Amino acid sequence: MNVMLNGFSLACTDAGQGLPLVLVHGYPLNRQMWQPQVKELSGQTRVLAPDLRGHGDSPVIQGPHSMDLFADDLNALLDGLGIQEKIILCGLSMGGYVTFAFFRKYAHRLRGLILTATRAAPDSEQALAARDQAIQTAVEKGVNPIFESMAPKLLSPQTASKLPAMLDLAMTVMRRTPPSTVVKDLQALKARQDSRPTLPRINLPTLIIHGEDDQIVPIQEAREMQAQIPGSRLAAVPAAGHLLNLEQPQIFNRAVQEFLDELG
Ligand code: MLT
Repeated sequence: MNVMLNGFSLACTDAGQGLPLVLVHGYPLNRQMWQPQVKELSGQTRVLAPDLRGHGDSPVIQGPHSMDLFADDLNALLDGLGIQEKIILCGLSMGGYVTFAFFRKYAHRLRGLILTATRAAPDSEQALAARDQAIQTAVEKGVNPIFESMAPKLLSPQTASKLPAMLDLAMTVMRRTPPSTVVKDLQALKARQDSRPTLPRINLPTLIIHGEDDQIVPIQEAREMQAQIPGSRLAAVPAAGHLLNLEQPQIFNRAVQEFLDELG
């Protein structure tokens, strides 16, 4: 379905009934990455999976991206859907950065948080340089070299060769992302706020789910986040990398289901 926001419509999957669980995808992906969660979790709750602006079926909108802007879009989406009850917000990687931004602006709409394959720290000097390099690659050679360089880091080395269909799905999803979106996302990722000071202020039930073999965000960063968020819990997923929800959907979904049961 499409939901009208301020002058454009955002594509969003809306399935099931109950406490709204909003799933926010990572970079440079779209809501298709949540297929196993939409299928399974919509039997228990209402699952909303939007395509952020410029991703998937949502239109490319003029102007730069930012985590705050994505959070504003999510807020407008909830208004557009007439959702007044509090939601559980679940963000993977860049979706987690959006989740932090949403918490800072719209905490009154939140019942709980799920932070997955994400980090609170901003980009290191090295990461900033890598983003600049990727922007240059996108402009000079197109975005395929960026996707191809990400591919070996998406899944756990333990499972990558056993799950070629998962990698194919991730690549197919990434290839739908327009070059302009890739560049705007990279700029927004570079400019994102340091969320470490936010962590001790999170006064909501929070579940962190992280792949033990995540090569993009090492699990140590999730442990550090967990230590800073009062009362939070970490579910460490074995044989899983950055796209752990695709790689170990049963373990991922069970962790979410248990969290929902506790909140229900
Ligand atoms: C993501 O999966 O959203 C990205 O890896 C985030 C990042 O590059 O920081």
